[in-house]
Amino acid sequence: MPEQRDPSPYDALLLLSFGGPEGPDDVVPFLENVTRGRGIPRERLKEVGRHYFLFGGVSPINAQNRELLDALRKDFAENGLDLPVYWGNRNWAPYLTDTLRTMVNDGHRRIAVLATSAYASYSGCRQYRENLADALAALQAEGLPVPQVDKLRHYFNHPGFLRPMIDGVLASLAELPAEARDGAHLAFTTHSIPTAAADTSGTPADHTEGGTGGAYVAQHLDVARVIADAVREETGVDHPWQLVYQSRSGAPHIPWLEPDICDHLEERHAAGVPAVVMAPIGFVSDHMEVKYDLDTEATAKAAELGLPVVRSATVGADPGSPRPSASSCWSARQPSGAAPRALCAGCPRREPRPVPGRLLPGACPAPGRRRSRLARPGRRRPRLSPARRPLPPDPRSIVPDPLQTDAAQTDALYDELLDVALEAAHRAGVLLRDGRPADLGVAATKSSPIDVVTEMDLASEKLITGFIGERRPDDGFLGEEGASSAGTSGIRWVIDPIDGTVNYLYGLPSWAVSIAAEQDGEVVVGVVAAPMRGETYRAVLGRGAFSNDEPIRHRPAPPELSQALLGTGFGYLAERRAAQAEVVRTLLPQVRDIRRGGSAAIDLCDVACGRLDAYYERGLNPWDLAAGALIAREAGALTGGRPGRSASHELTLAASPALFEQLQPLLDELGAWHD
Ligand code: IPD
Repeated sequence: MPEQRDPSPYDALLLLSFGGPEGPDDVVPFLENVTRGRGIPRERLKEVGRHYFLFGGVSPINAQNRELLDALRKDFAENGLDLPVYWGNRNWAPYLTDTLRTMVNDGHRRIAVLATSAYASYSGCRQYRENLADALAALQAEGLPVPQVDKLRHYFNHPGFLRPMIDGVLASLAELPAEARDGAHLAFTTHSIPTAAADTSGTPADHTEGGTGGAYVAQHLDVARVIADAVREETGVDHPWQLVYQSRSGAPHIPWLEPDICDHLEERHAAGVPAVVMAPIGFVSDHMEVKYDLDTEATAKAAELGLPVVRSATVGADPGSPRPSASSCWSARQPSGAAPRALCAGCPRREPRPVPGRLLPGACPAPGRRRSRLARPGRRRPRLSPARRPLPPDPRSIVPDPLQTDAAQTDALYDELLDVALEAAHRAGVLLRDGRPADLGVAATKSSPIDVVTEMDLASEKLITGFIGERRPDDGFLGEEGASSAGTSGIRWVIDPIDGTVNYLYGLPSWAVSIAAEQDGEVVVGVVAAPMRGETYRAVLGRGAFSNDEPIRHRPAPPELSQALLGTGFGYLAERRAAQAEVVRTLLPQVRDIRRGGSAAIDLCDVACGRLDAYYERGLNPWDLAAGALIAREAGALTGGRPGRSASHELTLAASPALFEQLQPLLDELGAWHD
């Protein structure tokens, strides 16, 4: 569908950043903000905060943002651009919502957003967009006008971003002892992220040659190659280089991008290189990761090895960048009607939740496409070569043009379905969480007088089907509260507007919105939003499962059935319950314990993320299980029914493979599949 872009002028720029503590007392509250919803214990946060305490509890990022703000304001003034610049953060004051509120109260209605993150990925792009969406929703709830907000594109390959980094590497080489300089190795570093997150940061069309990695890796490789080539051109020396990673966190069993910089230094030292330049291309300024992980930890490692290292400067408020990116919104002011190329595409198509109606979709310049020549006004760093030429276009730009293969089309379809499902589930979740009437009562009953429907089930289903219907008018529906249509596209949405209705009715937190998309009868996308947990689980067929931005895996099977924690549920008919109680009576003495959470969708996600060893239930409907079962499978669990059969109304079982093999025949024998 052709993009409709609003050519009317922007009236303000928002510098959107991560935020950081400004003193020791801020450190733990700041980290609580960063990790909200993930349930990380305070003790662990204190441990992580150790890095900040070494620097007096002050993150360098705030000072750098103030410097950048000044640079932007000066730049705009010098260029006669009357565009006020504001600053808001995701995780610390000044908070994004407060800044947006001020901007709206100051009369701004069309706002360009420059994020201090240059690359694709969930944390580097979409999370910013989601936070913008949440902030806009908060303004709306306060009855304020909601401005149009456009996030500028990833600027990793913007000449104004590349040029200072090239200069930084040249300056670092100049600092090395002359005898080590020519043989120096360039280690381009960026933040490690889980490999699953890297793989979903872009479509295959954005992948590197050879098809490895997602857009996150591809964009960094692109930048590294441009810098290495420019350095070669300007020094006449072909320095070997590699993209490496730093600042890994998360559970050790989850694979993250490697090699780590410290391992890399060891390996380079063993290979006999005389010196290394560490170039933190993944960081727009001297974040704590640069100050601690590189300047402290990696530098100490190099000292231990006796390997000379120099860390090259980050871009910061260099007069060349990211100012050009910001001033792109100037060109977007021209009322030509042409799509302003500086606007953010969102991260490549796998970025699932677009901001409702306010952040423009559409094309970033394709990552790695031919770059414009790097003419840059004014440089401040030392040069090695007096005759520096602008960088020529890179003929080996590593990210190919999109291939219109079937696989790419399927991928793009799944991306879209995931986008739609996440947004619909998010909207319904907010409605249910914030709009639950205190006097909520039963609106209707279904299979029995205790199988209830509330007015909120109906409102949620209406919202979801309305939203999806607008985005994908040709799709079919199967909803718990009656939505039913075949559609013509081959896609059918299977919706449980509240799974765990009885919990919801009683004000218990374990309820969810469950949305699955089937393609020709096979579930290809599943989203389960559990707002009271602050968690949204999602999976796309073949791409793994996630809780918020973290990849999830089932728990390894316990050595004995007696150590397994099972979840189950009961139907609403007395006769069925009597049969189910019989099964529990036999099973309970054989296992660690049995939980009855009250939401099948959440139970399945609990298997997916290792909070339950297994879950079984008879009598589920398609909407109860479609999304959760895909999420469980994509997290490595097995799902099924009676031996040889799929999960269904008759019986649904989900468990890690070894436990599944034990439980399936046992449940069959116990008659868990009949009343
Ligand atoms: C119910 C829940 C419950 C399960 C029931 C389902 P609903 O869904 O998933 O945990 O035991 O079988 O019907 O009615 O709340 O959407």
